[in-house]
Amino acid sequence: MDLLVNVLVVGSGGREHAIGWKLSQSKHVDKVFFAPGNGGTENNIPIQAEDIDALAEFAKTNHCFTIVGPEAPLSKGIVDAFVQKGLPIFGPTKKAAQLESSKIWAKQFMQRNDIPTAPFGIFDNYTDAKNYVNSLNYPVVIKADGLAAGKGVIVCTDSKEALSAIDEMMVKNSFGSAGAKIVIEKRIDGIEASYIALCDGTTAVPMATSQDHKRVFDDDLGPNTGGMGAYSPTGIITDDLARQIQKDVIEKTVSSMKKEGIEFSGFLYAGIMIQDGKPYVLEFNTRMGDPECQPILMRMDSDLYEYLYASSKGTLSSLGQISWKNKTAVCIVLASKGYPESYPKNEPISGIDNAVGNDAMVFHAGTKLENGVVLSNGGRVLGVTALGDTLSNAISNAYSAAQKINWSSKYCRMDIGKKGLRYV
Ligand code: GLY
Repeated sequence: MDLLVNVLVVGSGGREHAIGWKLSQSKHVDKVFFAPGNGGTENNIPIQAEDIDALAEFAKTNHCFTIVGPEAPLSKGIVDAFVQKGLPIFGPTKKAAQLESSKIWAKQFMQRNDIPTAPFGIFDNYTDAKNYVNSLNYPVVIKADGLAAGKGVIVCTDSKEALSAIDEMMVKNSFGSAGAKIVIEKRIDGIEASYIALCDGTTAVPMATSQDHKRVFDDDLGPNTGGMGAYSPTGIITDDLARQIQKDVIEKTVSSMKKEGIEFSGFLYAGIMIQDGKPYVLEFNTRMGDPECQPILMRMDSDLYEYLYASSKGTLSSLGQISWKNKTAVCIVLASKGYPESYPKNEPISGIDNAVGNDAMVFHAGTKLENGVVLSNGGRVLGVTALGDTLSNAISNAYSAAQKINWSSKYCRMDIGKKGLRYV
């Protein structure tokens, strides 16, 4: 790693902005390109995240190490295509990405490898699914098998809601082919947190713990979103629990995949439900969480490029553990009113520069730059992320930065991090 390298970050969200921001601080990195990027990223390349051939051509011409942010290109085999062409890339292969791209594959994998998860059934026809729900005496979660932009998981309170979710997926086809097959699993009630590790096929190095806020309104009300805010670390995952998750979930997943002939390289994100002190895997993602990525990378002291490169080369064990700032980071997602349904776009945003500084960063997501003006261009628009000596300081630093930013439809939850205060 003597020469400076160029990096291509694939994606356009807050996660990708944060990854690029952190990589630009690496002593090994020269230029950071984003494809397609957003209004806050520089060196944007007008290539969509799923246009694998065009991305490969760009990476080859510009001698880039490529880092894939979102799940869609991973599930389409971007890593396999790059490896075949001899291009360096970070992330899991298409087969390994099945842990996220097929909920059925992931549940069966966990079952055969004794990884703690809720009991479940798998269905490809409406009548069997309906009869199964009617035979149960506990609440369930209905999951579309395929990728559904974060909307394919419906948490149900009773059988009426469950039957309507099945109808939505299997009769109304609201999720297209992603909902043709479904998982029906027992709903586990408890506290949810995110545990992410960096893997190289054999070794798994933990990232810092975090907690997301998935519902759109305060007190976890309203529909699910991609995530309205996150903080890191979370006291919900105690050191003992972290060791247990690392061993019984993460390391077991990586070694079981290897045993089954699939090397898992990349970020392995376990969505964990903690019930009576025990962790259960709700879902796996095969990428960094968004917004979890923003507070985690704000706290990272180690050189991210060195870890991503080692993950792609299978040499993570030579680097040891990642070092973290002894601070808490909070990310507040500023969204456009109406998200996750319909919302206005093209509204000018003011105050971003005032919000940056004093250990606060503004990561862009749904924004675009037109004639020097930042305009809203998506549901989740900005991720205002701040450090603090304690969770409570980080919360107030993040909110005081967030209130400097304005646009007509700005909306954010006002209780990000509050749940964590009970565990500090
Ligand atoms: N924040 C949840 C996710 O990235 O899937």
